[in-house]
Amino acid sequence: MKLQLSRRPRRLRRTDNIRRMVRETHLHASDLIWPLFVQDGSEDTEIGSMPGVFRNSIESLVRRCQEAEKWGIPAVAVFPSIEPSLKDPVGSHGLVPDNLLYRAVRAAKEKCPNLVVITDVALDPYTSHGHDGLLSADGLTVDNDSTVEALCRLAVLEAQAGADIVAPSDMMDGRVGAIRSALDEAGFSDVAILAYSAKFASALYGPFRDAVGSKIGKDAISKASYQLDPANRREAWLEVELDELETADIVMVKPASYYLDIIREVSDKSSVPVAAYQVSGEYSQIQAAAKLGWLDYERTRNESLIAIKRAGADMILTYFAREVAEEISLGRFCR
Ligand code: PBG
Repeated sequence: MKLQLSRRPRRLRRTDNIRRMVRETHLHASDLIWPLFVQDGSEDTEIGSMPGVFRNSIESLVRRCQEAEKWGIPAVAVFPSIEPSLKDPVGSHGLVPDNLLYRAVRAAKEKCPNLVVITDVALDPYTSHGHDGLLSADGLTVDNDSTVEALCRLAVLEAQAGADIVAPSDMMDGRVGAIRSALDEAGFSDVAILAYSAKFASALYGPFRDAVGSKIGKDAISKASYQLDPANRREAWLEVELDELETADIVMVKPASYYLDIIREVSDKSSVPVAAYQVSGEYSQIQAAAKLGWLDYERTRNESLIAIKRAGADMILTYFAREVAEEISLGRFCR
């Protein structure tokens, strides 16, 4: 049978070159931000739940920064894995000016002055309980305002170490504005703020908490009293709006893949660039399924990133950054 059809969309899907001509979304190395972990000592340790991702010595971290530059990745985000013995309930190690994070940032900026270095502003690497902030006197909740005060000090120390962008990831109220004032007062008015604005209380952070040791005991701690309820879209927009009013330079949605609707909405409505964080659990799911032979590794990985870009992300934090940037630059990346 021959249908009488004048409209046949399949014409534009006929060959690879035609498909390339009509492709709407392209991933570039400049879209990518590479999250990197650092630990003290000379060893690199692979993170069990994140195959191919390491806690790096400072020396290896610097080498990875050089690799990022080589493949055209403009920025890295550095996360410290702090010795458990240095952690306490108030995260006081965060205020030690030559702690692991600040030494790592200095080393990275010394070897790679043009690479954009992003640091998290949060207490969880330093607190013995793994929360992003200070506990209230009864120990039952994370106290907002005293946490914001501590975050301001961390942000200034990070800027002093050479961070180009500080990224508050804690979801306290009012922290973006307070950090902006603290940075300006300390003479860092050029240091930008990437706000984790719509950060959901997600199970997908599990492998990251393995990596930095913020998961205490067998049970994952609940951050639901400060991170967003995964069920809430309107509240996510409110958070973005407030962070913009508090002069965030970039806003972020996190995680990415389960929250593409949020990325789309923020991208449509926001007047500043939008980042999305493809978090540890998104990475590990793809790695695990590929290891079992259940999903094709490269195709699933590439599709996940194109989908995040298509949803409206201007930049993507992803543990796949280096390998994908390499494939893009060698012309081997296909969605
Ligand atoms: C905490 C922080 C988390 C991540 C980045 N910063 C985890 C958390 O909120 O417990 C998660 C990143 C990932 O899962 O890849 N400040």
